Formats: sequence, C-alpha cells, structure tokens
Amino acid sequence: MSENILEKINRDQFRANFLKYTRKAFLTLPKLDNPFILDIGCGSGIPTMELAKLSTGTIFALDTDQLALDKLNKKIKEKKLENRIKTIKCSFYEMNFQDESFDLIWAEGVGYFIRFEESLKQWRRLLKTNGFLVIHDDIKTLPTSRTLIKKYNYKLLDYFALPKDAWWVDYYRPLESRIDELRQRIVKDSSALEVLEQQQQEIDNFKTNPSKARSIFYILQKIMSK
Ligand SMILES: C[S@@+](CC[C@H](N)C(=O)[O-])C[C@H]1O[C@@H](n2cnc3c(N)ncnc32)[C@H](O)[C@@H]1O
Repeated sequence: MSENILEKINRDQFRANFLKYTRKAFLTLPKLDNPFILDIGCGSGIPTMELAKLSTGTIFALDTDQLALDKLNKKIKEKKLENRIKTIKCSFYEMNFQDESFDLIWAEGVGYFIRFEESLKQWRRLLKTNGFLVIHDDIKTLPTSRTLIKKYNYKLLDYFALPKDAWWVDYYRPLESRIDELRQRIVKDSSALEVLEQQQQEIDNFKTNPSKARSIFYILQKIMSK
C-alpha cells in the first residue's frame, strides 16, 4: 500500500516544474551536433527526457535505483526513444566508460550523494576536450565553487541560482496540497496515512528553513590543464 500511495503522490509531476531551469541551462550551451550525453543519477528521467527533446544526441542515463530506471524505461518505450536513450544500472563511483567518451555530462540533484569537488574531479576524465559539465546542486556549494572549478581545470561558462521561492512554489506547495487531498480521501487507511505523515515531515522541515533548500546550476567546460 505504501508504494501505491507514493505512486499516488507522484512527486515526478512536481519535479517536472523545474524543467524550465533544465532548459535554461541547456540553452546556455553552444549548439552540439548529435552529442553523447551522460545523465548521472538520472532517477526516473525527468531531466533525461527533456535532454532528449532539447538535443539530437544519444543519452546514457545512469542510476543505481532499478525502480527509477524501470519508470524511465517505460517513458522511453512510450516515446519510442530506444535508439536515443540507454539506461544503465551503475553507481557513479564505478563508471567504466572510456576516457573522453562524452560531449556533455548532466547531473541534477546528486549533490546529496557526492560532493561537488568529487564530481568535478571524478567526472572530468569522461569528458572530451572542451566538453561540458552541467551540475544542479545545493547553493551551499557556491562559496568555494570558483576555486574548485579552477582547480580541476574547468571554465565557468555560466551559473544561476533558482529563484528564492522556487522550491516552495514549484515543489513543496503543490506537494503539500496533494498530500492534503489524499489525506481526505484515505481517512481509514492508517498505513497510508502514516506514509503521508512521513512525506509531510519533509515539507515541515523545509518550512523551518526554506532558504537552506536553494539550488544552483553550474555550466562548466573542460579545459586542458596548463
Ligand atoms: C534527487 S534524485 C535526482 C534524480 C534526477 N537527476 C532528477 O533531477 O530528477 C538523485 C538520484 O541519484 C541517484 N544516486 C544516488 N547515489 C548514486 C550513485 N552512487 N550512483 C548513481 N546514482 C546514484 C539516486 O538513486 C537518485 O535517483
């Protein structure tokens, strides 16, 4: 039942509200002809599917969560994109692609699992010379970001923070409305109500310090080491 109620909440629909920022970041890149793109920590593929729309490239979408990859595989099949998007169940700590395989690496929302510095360091070898790395991370990375970007030989092409209220307006507020709505519909199902309360807890935590949940896009280019 708890899985069912999570499906009913369907966080993906709120996650999709951030695609305007995915598009904004992608459109700061120069035109890429049929690029090889690696989407790291793709989850159920909300940004992945958008990248397929925005580019003419081939996308390798990688995550350790098989359920999320199953969801993405379903979307790929529905849109008949099997020849454009390949899913890979693998940890981003264990990627064995050859050096310089990709024109673009995309990583949204993985900062909780790998530090910004580590991602700059580890993923550089996978990029072709002058290839691009786009990271959507927690805004707390900002103070040290310039130093780290330079240290690992990237050029900062652009960056932008999401608006102050984006996480509330685009994500937590609609999520809370959905939870309220479901609460009223399932009054007698105690296990489902418990799951809803856990979800509500995350929103309540957010409300105690909304400014902490700000995030930022970095658009970087790999440059040759001096
Ligand atoms: C917050 S979700 C972001 C999903 C997607 N990029 C998005 O923006 O909607 C973080 C994703 O990172 C994945 N992840 C966590 N640790 C990982 C690892 N070591 N290797 C690959 N993926 C990982 C999780 O399974 C999850 O799907």
